[in-house]
Amino acid sequence: MFERLRGTRDFLPNEMAARKKVFSSIKKSVEEFGFFETDTPGIELFELYSIKSGEEIIDELYAFEDKGGRMISLRPELTPSVVRVLVSRAKELSFPVKWYSIPRLWRYERPQSGRLREFYQLNIDIFGSEDPRADTEVISCAIKLLCDLGFDESDIEVRISDRRMLQEFLLNLGITNYQDVLKKIDKREKISERDFKEMLAGISLDHTQINEIEEFLNSKGDFLKSIEGLSCAYQGEGISKVIFSLRKIAQSLNDRGYEKFITFDPSIVRGLDYYTGMVFEVHDRKREFRALFGGGRYDNLAELFGGEHIPAVGFGMGDAVLELMMRRKNIWPEEKVEIDLFIATIGDVEKEVSKLLTSLRNNNFKVDCDIMGRNLSNQIKFANKLGAKSLLIVGERDLNEGNVTLRDLESGKESKISLNGIISEPSKYLTKVL
Ligand code: HAM
Repeated sequence: MFERLRGTRDFLPNEMAARKKVFSSIKKSVEEFGFFETDTPGIELFELYSIKSGEEIIDELYAFEDKGGRMISLRPELTPSVVRVLVSRAKELSFPVKWYSIPRLWRYERPQSGRLREFYQLNIDIFGSEDPRADTEVISCAIKLLCDLGFDESDIEVRISDRRMLQEFLLNLGITNYQDVLKKIDKREKISERDFKEMLAGISLDHTQINEIEEFLNSKGDFLKSIEGLSCAYQGEGISKVIFSLRKIAQSLNDRGYEKFITFDPSIVRGLDYYTGMVFEVHDRKREFRALFGGGRYDNLAELFGGEHIPAVGFGMGDAVLELMMRRKNIWPEEKVEIDLFIATIGDVEKEVSKLLTSLRNNNFKVDCDIMGRNLSNQIKFANKLGAKSLLIVGERDLNEGNVTLRDLESGKESKISLNGIISEPSKYLTKVL
């Protein structure tokens, strides 16, 4: 017997059924926002990630040399793949492009709650627009899809910041090794305040700078009010543009009725190297789990991949954390399979069953029948296990009168119906599961 690899999952049909319901709710919400589904290969050239995903992701790659001597990697995230496609097909696309995908991803991480080596991740991205309305649309979509799944503002918090804001703040403090500081800030939530300060001291920041950074990172609060506060504290052309854009995002999210979900939190920087502006994360309010979503603006990646300047904004949401959060709130769908009808047989009725199967399936019913030669009582038990709504008993005695017996498996109610009637008009007698 072989064991499953650590950090991977098998899904049995009942588990798959629940997962499919969640994924189809997500797809519906995202498509209501005008996003179209795409797909890309599970393997890519290693360089796609070494260019700009960041050290952490590189360390976690499932990478290998293929038989042609190329360095290949399983995809650890989707963003580089979609940007690769976008750059190579830019001429045939009409911008803005709104794409989504739910790929399977692989990262060699230490498996733990909400952190796996193989997982699904919803990605949505808008390409081609620098306008803050694109940022608003992406954040709104994140909130709306969670609401459609049954969450509300008491469950989730969307924390937003902007890397350029932090950069300006650090420059004002005379700090120029901005990328180094960013990496330390990204680790801040996972370590103690003392360790964080020691890390900053380790990259040559002095006592005053460290305290000012700590104070700035703690200035979390109402999004719109925080932006107004920042606009008084910071002036200058570059930063005014950032503040203008954040204010528009904040106002527009308020107008859409989402202000209760949103917090401004300057400590959000995100681990991936390619983000250039607005960044955001979504967590459960009680902070039981790791981040559910991570995303932001990454306006330079298309150029780094050899394309034109194509601004971009998007996010990734992992299915593992989502499942943990939905189970905690008791909104994970019931794990059960379902079919419309099971055909149970008594005696030699194969010809009639064949006709019924063809007709019902041609009319889009989900139908199964006995192929084990079981007795009636065992066929009924099996039909219940399949989640059949109805049972159609086809027996020699009924057939002599041109009938079959239809039993509703929930109520137990039975009726005799004409075999020819159900073959010619199945919808008159049966209702579908989905
Ligand atoms: P990320 O922060 O690396 O961003 O991942 C986003 C989400 O994917 C996380 O918040 C988490 O829910 C899930 N996730 C990541 N790693 C794992 C893991 N090992 N096991 C289970 N779930 C995981 C990105 O991947 C960006 N490419 C997102 C993006 C799209 N930004 C712009 N567009």
